[in-house]
Amino acid sequence: MKKKAILYTALLGGALISSTLFLSGCGGSAEASTSGISPQKMADGLHLVMKSDRTIYTRNVVNRLVKQDKVIKASEHWADDKALPLPAQMFRMGAEMVAKEPDAGFSYSLQSIWPINQQNAPKTEAEKIGLQYVIDNPGQNYYAEEELGGVNYFTGVYADTGVAAACIDCHNEHKDSPKTDFKLGDVMGGVVIRIPID
Ligand code: HEC
Repeated sequence: MKKKAILYTALLGGALISSTLFLSGCGGSAEASTSGISPQKMADGLHLVMKSDRTIYTRNVVNRLVKQDKVIKASEHWADDKALPLPAQMFRMGAEMVAKEPDAGFSYSLQSIWPINQQNAPKTEAEKIGLQYVIDNPGQNYYAEEELGGVNYFTGVYADTGVAAACIDCHNEHKDSPKTDFKLGDVMGGVVIRIPID
């Protein structure tokens, strides 16, 4: 666990720094400075990267090209429609790729208590409580430990916010959306990150 956590810190937080260090042959010092990272710290770091990528894709690709410049659509059937994949689909493609890595050491998903896709509804107790918690407590994350299938996990739930007009317009207008009055800046769901702990 500790070894994996160290690796992720190097991969995430210090991607640039550590690659410079590795190139100059001082990889060891990058490891030494990040030893003892907690599951929470690791989940927070993972989430920061996910949130940044997700926000940038939505603002600088989807919102700009679909809403402002109106040159392309975003569609659930993006391959057939020659359109942009939805932000949630981009997110899931990444999550699925990680899930194929046997030694990934974490898994993640995008969920909501108002899901367009029922498969994105919370399932475990921690997911249900966590998704409600991030709605009721703006700016705060929810952390829990849960046992699933005989394995103990650290679970972090992070608010997923309507950061661009494209987010709320698409959800409010979608035929399968159980909620149709999202406003800019509303918490629309949450990112769930799960890390096995010993
Ligand atoms: C063009 C339409 C569109 C845009 C833009 C869009 N979404 Fe979605 N979103 C969807 C659809 C459709 C799904 C279900 C996709 C699936 O799981 O296959 C979804 C899934 C989600 C989910 C998972 C729960 C659910 O509803 O199934 C969350 C949370 C979410 N979107 C939030 C956002 C946020 C925040 C943004 C902006 C950063 C955003 N969406 C932008 C259409 C959109």
